[in-house]
Amino acid sequence: MADRTTLTTTAGAPVGDNQNSLSAGRHGPLLLQDYQLIEKLAHQNRERIPERVVHAKGWGAFGQLTITNDISRYTNARVFAQVGKKTDLLIRFSTVAGEQGAADAERDVRGFAIKFYTEEGNWDLVGNNTPVFFVRDPLKFPDFIRTQKRHPRTNMRSPTAMWDFWSLSPESLHQVTILFSDRGLPIGPQFMNGYGSHTYSFWNDAGERYWVKFHFKTQQGHRHYTNEESVGVIGHTRESYQEALFGGIERGEYPRWNMFVQIMPETDVGKTPYDPFDLTKVWPHGDYPLIEVGVVELNRNPDNYFAEIEQAAFSPSNIVRGIGFSPDKMLQGRIFSYADAHRHRLGTHYEALPVNAPRCPVHHYHKDGAMRFFRNDTGNPDAYYEPNSFGGPVEDRKYLEPPLRISGEAMRYDHREGNDDYSQPRALFHLFDDTQRYRLFRNLAAAMQGVPQHIVDRQIGHFEKIDPAYAAGVRAALAEGSGFEDARDTQPPAFEPAE
Ligand code: NDP
Ligand code: HEM
Repeated sequence: MADRTTLTTTAGAPVGDNQNSLSAGRHGPLLLQDYQLIEKLAHQNRERIPERVVHAKGWGAFGQLTITNDISRYTNARVFAQVGKKTDLLIRFSTVAGEQGAADAERDVRGFAIKFYTEEGNWDLVGNNTPVFFVRDPLKFPDFIRTQKRHPRTNMRSPTAMWDFWSLSPESLHQVTILFSDRGLPIGPQFMNGYGSHTYSFWNDAGERYWVKFHFKTQQGHRHYTNEESVGVIGHTRESYQEALFGGIERGEYPRWNMFVQIMPETDVGKTPYDPFDLTKVWPHGDYPLIEVGVVELNRNPDNYFAEIEQAAFSPSNIVRGIGFSPDKMLQGRIFSYADAHRHRLGTHYEALPVNAPRCPVHHYHKDGAMRFFRNDTGNPDAYYEPNSFGGPVEDRKYLEPPLRISGEAMRYDHREGNDDYSQPRALFHLFDDTQRYRLFRNLAAAMQGVPQHIVDRQIGHFEKIDPAYAAGVRAALAEGSGFEDARDTQPPAFEPAE
């Protein structure tokens, strides 16, 4: 056998026996002084960290963004500085509702989180495979997620809770229509688009601001499972996405996406029939065409899933010079939520873990705390606060975003007042051909099995307002009923708690 390195304890001492515990006599009890045994068992007890409260099941890989078109007139972000520029990145794809052990081929929105390791810090675009979302106010996010998770008494998913919430929240119609269309169940991460979803902003050296949306279109084409096919896939393997992504990259099949932006001049706000900061709306391509930016390629698998994918921490608050936020209320909520989640899930210094650490120098004044394992010294022990007279990093105003004019009275504004939740889902419904509509109706009807009739009726009332054909199709599919056992099998039957 080739030379093998000697096993050591975590303190570095060579180990003489890694097979047999230390016992008092051949058949005697074990000795407390066997610290190697104790260390092994104690470490095992600490091998798990909390799973993500949402998006727990995920798959990730590393790659690059290569710029193919000059958009530097809109933004001075270094990542877009010149055609041909390459920036390293990490993408973690995920499902939203399932736990870490959930099957991959389940109908759900897919997370599409990108960390760009730019030369001026990490830029995280934490999006989904859909351009819109179920709710438009962050106050409703925890309620929405509760309907996707397990019922407190049955400990099963509850279709009743989902449809109750959705039918009482018509802003969800656009996302619900996408979720139950073909694109709600891609066959693998390679075969779906990604969207930044929110409206962000760009700003340039002249101090001009533009509103921007980000799109990543798959070069592999859109491929999806029907409900029936997914039942077969899950029966065969629960890890179909991991197999497809990891296996494909190992074989040298590198998935790619074309990156685009939509750009809205700052002064267009108020001129569109939809609120450009409403996350339940898209900007129609006819109004704001896609502008090419570059190509994203994934070409390297992580060496250690836990270290590089489970410990990856994405946050919409990670922006860089030239990229800013917007008044999108959901985005505003998310700017707080993610770093808070990471401090809980990973610990105070999660940003210093290798997968999260920027690839550029980092100089800040955060100092102590659990797991302070990284070097972040100013080079002068007296310069540990700012301002100081002893050196150390200082601000540079050239990184300041241009001022944003805001006005108005502080109030809890009704986001449903005067808001059209039906036109954009209608435009989508009209994009579908007859077979796509047929599958949409069947998928919806399958997911509604066992849901109380008054809730189904309320939801169909919304479909009616999108298009009477939408409502009629779902009604017909529900009446067929018996055609949906296959899909019903993917969700436990609804169990109504006693009043
Ligand atoms: P366009 O005809 O210019 O664009 C249609 C868009 O719909 C394309 O981006 C296409 O993606 C996407 N699409 C096609 N089938 C589906 C599906 N089953 N689920 C989700 N998206 C799909 O139209 P508009 O820009 O005027 O938008 C019309 C409707 O298209 C919108 O109301 C919205 O529902 C949907 N849409 C719009 C997007 C936008 O940013 N404007 C983005 C995605 C969807 P692809 O090119 O990859 O095939
Ligand atoms: C993960 C909160 C809306 C995409 C998470 C996590 C939290 C969270 C706490 C877990 C983070 C972690 O532990 O690492 C919220 C809140 C939202 C919201 C409060 C609304 C107010 C959205 C929206 C999108 C989105 C609109 C997409 C457009 C994601 C993705 C992940 C995630 C992709 C997984 C990131 C990863 O791969 O690690 N979200 N979320 N979320 N969220 Fe959201």
